[in-house]
Amino acid sequence: MAIVIDSSAKRLTLHTANTSYQMMVGEYGYLFHLYYGDSIGDGDCSYLLYKQERSLCSSPFCAGEDRAFTLDTAPQEYSAGGAGDTRLPCIIAEFPNGGRALDLHYFSHELLAEKPALKGLPSLQQGEKTCQTLEITLKDSDSEVYVILQYTVFEEDDCIARSCRVENRTGAPLRLEAALSACLEREAEEDLDLISFWGRHTMERNVERRRVSHGKIVVDSARGTSSAQQSPFVILCDHHATEDAGRCWGLNFVYSGNFAASAERSQLGSVRVTMGINPETFSWKLEDGESFQAPEVILSYSGCGLSRLSSNYHRILRENMCRGAFKDCRRPVLINNWEATYFDFNTDKLVRIAETASKLGVELLVMDDGWFGKRDSDWSGLGDWTVNEKKLPGGMQALCSKINALGMKLGVWFEPEMVSEDSDLFRQHPEWVLRIEGRGYSRNRYQLVLDMSRQDVREHLYQQISKVLSSANIEYVKWDMNRPLSEVWSQLLPADRQGEVSHRYTLGVYELMDRLTTDFPHILFEGCSSGGNRYDAGLLYYMPQIWCSDNTDAIERLEIQYGTSFGFPMSALGAHVSACPNHQTGRTTPLFTRGVVAMAGTFGYELDLNTLTEEEKEQVKEQIAAYKKHYDTINKGEYYRLTDPTRNRELCAWEFVSRDKKKALLFAVGTHVRANVAMPVIRMKGLDAGKQYRLTCQADHPLTKKDVGAKDGVYSGAVLMNAGIRTPMLKGDWPAFCVELEEVENA
Ligand code: GLA
Repeated sequence: MAIVIDSSAKRLTLHTANTSYQMMVGEYGYLFHLYYGDSIGDGDCSYLLYKQERSLCSSPFCAGEDRAFTLDTAPQEYSAGGAGDTRLPCIIAEFPNGGRALDLHYFSHELLAEKPALKGLPSLQQGEKTCQTLEITLKDSDSEVYVILQYTVFEEDDCIARSCRVENRTGAPLRLEAALSACLEREAEEDLDLISFWGRHTMERNVERRRVSHGKIVVDSARGTSSAQQSPFVILCDHHATEDAGRCWGLNFVYSGNFAASAERSQLGSVRVTMGINPETFSWKLEDGESFQAPEVILSYSGCGLSRLSSNYHRILRENMCRGAFKDCRRPVLINNWEATYFDFNTDKLVRIAETASKLGVELLVMDDGWFGKRDSDWSGLGDWTVNEKKLPGGMQALCSKINALGMKLGVWFEPEMVSEDSDLFRQHPEWVLRIEGRGYSRNRYQLVLDMSRQDVREHLYQQISKVLSSANIEYVKWDMNRPLSEVWSQLLPADRQGEVSHRYTLGVYELMDRLTTDFPHILFEGCSSGGNRYDAGLLYYMPQIWCSDNTDAIERLEIQYGTSFGFPMSALGAHVSACPNHQTGRTTPLFTRGVVAMAGTFGYELDLNTLTEEEKEQVKEQIAAYKKHYDTINKGEYYRLTDPTRNRELCAWEFVSRDKKKALLFAVGTHVRANVAMPVIRMKGLDAGKQYRLTCQADHPLTKKDVGAKDGVYSGAVLMNAGIRTPMLKGDWPAFCVELEEVENA
């Protein structure tokens, strides 16, 4: 049983294949967190609860003269602000008299045989899996405010989907100043680290690991998107946890707007981690009879290191978050014209790029920014989604026929949420943008943000975009979003509801995405926000892949993709081979290396293939053929980080193993080739120790001496995982090699 309820002991336990999560209704009816970690079977952790009088810690009213009972030190399952627990609150509610205190007690619980959908929000789908859900209702002691905690157990995946709903039955409005989704409590004696993923444009998701010391750590976004600056995914882990050892708890937020993940070590040393919508940019007026649904957090635990934790997330996001026709089928290898032409293109140029691409095996041409309105630079045109016939004579249909005639699909770029000041849309509807009446507004890339909380704006966008999508055989859409929100204010909402706009914006974006992806199910949608500025589990509900970064430099990508891999599957990671010298860094890397790096994701090209030599074109052909051959291993297999590129400055290696463990691929890039070095040994992971594998090694750099290491031959999984393989002697700038393993039966 995934969920076990011991009514007499008032204990509630959630079980996954390898983990247990336990809560109990304790003294005075409060819901306490007892345990989350490796399976404990039918174990009872209630003995861990204790109470002791502490100076400067208050006792709740219901405890009367019991001075030893305090919420300020208790492990709470969902902490409420204002009534004695002064640590991180999950919920802050203000009553009409201005009072801000909630005193939440267990009220009831219900067991559901499936996972309910979260209205208007992305969330894990149970699909073919059997899922049990536990809903625990808490009630405020002095009012009719109810908080329903929701837990759905994905047993085989070692994941728990957690969220909560607040219901106001007080007869008067209630103002929510915070309504977070999840809370995790840890014991006092534990030496724990928080791993988060910080970044900036073209340098997203760098791994940052810090000790959870006294006080608070806040990782958040107030930019309107989940952001490049911080990712809505954090890991709490043992200070000594590594890829293969130690306890790790992940919180992956299924939300694309402002978020906050906080960790606090309290006066007694216990640790609380919370995650939810960022309270800094949130306030919600909940009328009597209304409820507020907080987004979902996917909790996962691994008792054997970070690798397993990532694998849990990869699997569940791939299988239960991504939806639609492209969830499982092989997605096309694409070529995007952005870095090939920027805004300077027309039908002829695109067709020339496509002609060469199609001959080499590319299957989809993506026409990026610049095909619409007055859009010859980033100064104008956003919002006017009508084809610029000067660039594309005969319109979309004419271009599409030409591309289709080459045997290729056509894809189109949109940035639906934006409008340029110089656009017909802005001239017609200046009231449709986020701005505060009577104030100036901030500019970024000379574009403004449409007020996606407005239904009329969303309807207009739906009409415009669906018209384009129906006008020709368009089979892919890149959905971009290139600036943060500012002056967040909506003309349609009263003053006391302006704090809702950021969240309503995100809900509005989700609604439009849902409508378009539902009505155009044959179209593959790829998310993008200046690259990885809205890279989160929520977006994957609508689009199975996201452009990972505007940085296409293969060497820079090593760290970006490494960081991304902790919380997100490689099948979601948009990666392209681009031209050299690279447009972001000026670095020149071998084409082979660029292919190897882009193959750790949804593979494509972003350059004019006509500029390549015949020899290079042959190489492109081989890369595409290899990617197609290994598609399932890369996109559906297990992914392993073999080195940490932030520590190992010489070699970056990673590996894919097919689900049946019959095939594996090891990719490595020499990031700092040095003279007179030892050739390191890399131990492979995840193979079947008893299987025999045929090893073939491919290295392309003319100076690399392949014959020195990784000798082609047949080896057992046990040998490859324990003794490992020796790397070839890498020479030159940024060399790479690839090792392919295939099971040899009856060897
Ligand atoms: C963003 C995207 C790029 C490209 C440009 C076009 O920066 O991330 O890939 O589409 O916009 O303006």
